[in-house]
Amino acid sequence: MSNRSNLSAGAKTLVVVVHPDLKASRINKRLTAELEQRGNVTVHRLYDVYPDEKIDVAREQALLLAHDRIVFQFPLFWYSAPSLLKKWLDEVFELGFAHGKNGDKLHGKELIVAISSGGAQSMFQAGGRHNYSYSELLRPFQQTANYAGMIYRQPFVVSGVREVSDEELEAYARNYADYVEGKLDLSKTGS
Ligand SMILES: Cc1cc2nc3c(=O)[nH]c(=O)nc-3n(C[C@H](O)[C@H](O)[C@H](O)COP(=O)(O)O)c2cc1C
Repeated sequence: MSNRSNLSAGAKTLVVVVHPDLKASRINKRLTAELEQRGNVTVHRLYDVYPDEKIDVAREQALLLAHDRIVFQFPLFWYSAPSLLKKWLDEVFELGFAHGKNGDKLHGKELIVAISSGGAQSMFQAGGRHNYSYSELLRPFQQTANYAGMIYRQPFVVSGVREVSDEELEAYARNYADYVEGKLDLSKTGS
């Protein structure tokens, strides 16, 4: 896992937002709004684009090819992502694109996973209520990135969402947008 981005300041970033009900969301809605206000990254709301969940693979692959840094932003659902992201990965990261012969199309691109979680950070450790760290739970994403030749960056986590105050959420949104834009080194913020 890489703490620091090696991409240039002009790197193009695609944020794939995967929330089945963004209107009813508090955390992901605010994070997404911050990105959209700044206008420096491409925001791709997967459930809005594909309400019928029929994914246009060629369109998604073209989007990936046009960007250098890819972000998967989602609420943690049963220690993983909402199901549309799994379907998207199964179909879009296909043989000859993300792996196998000629499957080098994602090589050198960065992957950032950004999650919100109901449980508090302290619960995600050995002996805690959720037993495993976020890093451990996100391993399938990390190894997917590795296998596709991508550079897996430190995940961005908003935990204990019900205890996050409005002020804290504003700070999260600023830090998130800065991180996604390559302007913030997360290892220096303690996030
Ligand atoms: C189906 C479902 C499964 C969930 N599973 C988890 C979980 O495994 N771990 C966790 O910390 N929170 C879990 N939550 C809580 C959500 O992560 C939390 O509500 C969400 O991050 C809040 O973000 P939002 O305001 O953008 O909706 C789950 C929520 C739902 C609806």
